[in-house]
Amino acid sequence: MLENCKYPIIQAPMAGGISTVALATAVSENGGLGFLAAGYKTAEALETEIIAMEQAGVLYGVNVFVPTLETDKQEEVEAYKTILEKDWQMKLELPAWSDDEWEEKLALLKHYKVPAASFTFSCPSKEIISDLQENGTYTIVTVTDEKEALIAQQAGANAVCLQGIEAGGHRASFENTDPIGNKPLIDLLADVLETVEIPVIAAGGIMDGEQIKELLQAGAAAVQLGTAFICCEESGANPIYKRALIEQQFTNTKLTRTFTGRLARGLENDFMQRYEAVAPAAYPTLHFVTQLIRKQALIKENPQAMSMWAGVGFEKVRALTVKELMQQLKTEAGLL
Ligand SMILES: Cc1cc2nc3c(=O)[nH]c(=O)nc-3n(C[C@H](O)[C@H](O)[C@H](O)COP(=O)(O)O)c2cc1C
Repeated sequence: MLENCKYPIIQAPMAGGISTVALATAVSENGGLGFLAAGYKTAEALETEIIAMEQAGVLYGVNVFVPTLETDKQEEVEAYKTILEKDWQMKLELPAWSDDEWEEKLALLKHYKVPAASFTFSCPSKEIISDLQENGTYTIVTVTDEKEALIAQQAGANAVCLQGIEAGGHRASFENTDPIGNKPLIDLLADVLETVEIPVIAAGGIMDGEQIKELLQAGAAAVQLGTAFICCEESGANPIYKRALIEQQFTNTKLTRTFTGRLARGLENDFMQRYEAVAPAAYPTLHFVTQLIRKQALIKENPQAMSMWAGVGFEKVRALTVKELMQQLKTEAGLL
């Protein structure tokens, strides 16, 4: 599968409306591998996107969140919700735990025999992985360390996507815990390459071709870039978010639990600073609890209360078309 891509550049799946069909198609048309993000989307909405990718006739992947049971945090969640309701003067939702339509999404992967699937937040069972593979789907598990990479290999995954500490968005760790250490991606890659035999895709903080070249030389089978694509014309990121990145309205990124209950790296804003100490590790419950605040912030064009996921390399983001960005990345990486 990875051999079928002209260039070993993967566009990271980005839930929240960022990785659109247009973005994924353009990446694949320019020799990379575009990914759809199934997270927080109904199976019905995902199906529409898969059909559009099929019609475009390009290689693509679909990323699915593996449901994880959270430990009971009812009281802490209620307390956090009360604080937020008081501060923001609005009634917030406290939904039941959701599996994000896991079974329905798996059924879609099978029905459409999607070329590639990647999984995040845990490792699917051996049976699920072999079912997908027998159906022709190249199956990738996202991991954050050697231990998880080994679990993915033992479950039969075709490849792992290794997410470094630098990465924008949610930490893909199998457990909703704090990361151990701050090892840079390049060092983590060396450790994981010593541990597993399957191909390793490197992700986290990659913004230019120089970095791509270095990681490929270090043994990565491919690289996966998220933040680098957020400001592309074809990305579905809202204009406030794109502007915040391009105009460098924020100076830092930070890992935070305040928005969703799971550590995710984003532009460090007031909301993160204000609630870091009180936000419980309750994912995806907090995603729904804070949803209305984030929606209102978008309407009011207030980036201080929006979740704007970004990796540590965000200052190097480029506002280009995918074609232009891919061309620049390939040139810088010496891939042309
Ligand atoms: C806005 C945004 C949304 C993301 N959403 C997802 C997702 O839905 N599924 C997933 O596996 N990873 C997601 N990620 C993480 C990426 O797969 C990847 O690990 C990360 O983008 C790499 O770091 P970078 O952003 O510095 O390139 C997201 C990242 C960002 C920036």
